[in-house]
Amino acid sequence: MERQQELNLIDELLELKANKSFYLDEQVGRSATRHYASADRYAEEQNHIFRRQPHAVALSTEINEAHDFVRRNIPGLSVLVTRTKDGAVRAFINACRHRGTRLVDDEAGCKRRFTCPYHAWTYSAEGDLIGAPHFDEGFTELEKSQLGLVQLPCTERYGFIWVSPHPDRAFDIDAMMAGLAPDLEGLGIGDMVIAEQTVMDRGANWKILVEGGIEAYHFKVAHRSTIGPYFEDNLSTYQTFGPNMRSILPRVSMGELSQETREKWRLRDHANVLYTLFPTTQMLVQQDHIVWIRSEPLAADRTRLHLSTLVVREDAERTEHWQRNHAITMKTLDEDFVIGESMQSTLTSGANDEMLFGRFEGALTAFNDTVNKALSKATTRP
Ligand code: FES
Ligand SMILES: [Fe+2]
Repeated sequence: MERQQELNLIDELLELKANKSFYLDEQVGRSATRHYASADRYAEEQNHIFRRQPHAVALSTEINEAHDFVRRNIPGLSVLVTRTKDGAVRAFINACRHRGTRLVDDEAGCKRRFTCPYHAWTYSAEGDLIGAPHFDEGFTELEKSQLGLVQLPCTERYGFIWVSPHPDRAFDIDAMMAGLAPDLEGLGIGDMVIAEQTVMDRGANWKILVEGGIEAYHFKVAHRSTIGPYFEDNLSTYQTFGPNMRSILPRVSMGELSQETREKWRLRDHANVLYTLFPTTQMLVQQDHIVWIRSEPLAADRTRLHLSTLVVREDAERTEHWQRNHAITMKTLDEDFVIGESMQSTLTSGANDEMLFGRFEGALTAFNDTVNKALSKATTRP
């Protein structure tokens, strides 16, 4: 993050705190409950958001060496990501070109070649079809060179591997992250590894789970026995960068900064900084580590979450420390997810046609504007 911006963000929060005021949008926001419950709406999001927008599917350090690979799911699509012998990253639809069997079922590993479990068509890490039993006799009109795995545009940037879910949809990650490049570079995720990871399925719409992290209105209530006491009551700010967002959720300790010289001010020591990178990536930046939340929507009312504690490589040996930290994060996030499931359970009860977002919950309004804009753009396209 640019230093001047960091100081400005702290100044803004200290001023709001001093005036006992909140960071307020102009108006109350509203979001239709059917947008969280309807299968049709989910199908639209699937087709026009999840199957169009690039996703951060892995850390670069997860496939460090030549021939390392991971298998990942983008909603509705199994993806194979490989590191070639030249060190480049490639992504493919994880489907054999013969009759479509999933080529790889292992979650991760290191392999020079991938052999289909059905009839043993075999592909290189570059995606080329390099072997197929009795090919010349059985597939006379066909060329192996035309039957490589279907490649997906992908790039390595800011420590992540980003994959487009559509073979024909290339993307410019720097343009997509415009305004956030200094923040993302400053996080140093390229040198980080996963210290701890939890994967869980929750009974809530993916948007409810995102919304649960970007307001501080609930902190003193829902988190009263965990992190609540350490955070300011209902104090948070947010900034949008195209479809992406940065939320700042200050701890009570930020108040002490008025006694310190400005040179010593460091935002992440006194606030949770949460990046929401549209659509499925969130990064919760804490003092000495980052929690990466990769959301994998499964249905209107079901979401798989991959929650990883990222730490700098040299620090990864402090196993017990990170286990403890990860457990605390999971306990706190579980409080949010249980509430999210509770909300999901009343969506079709008839109690509410709309969710209401108070003026201090403006980040939720902005997030839903982004979702709605992505859908309306998609539907007006010829
Ligand atoms: S489906 Fe893969 S080899 Fe037949
Ligand atoms: Fe929360």
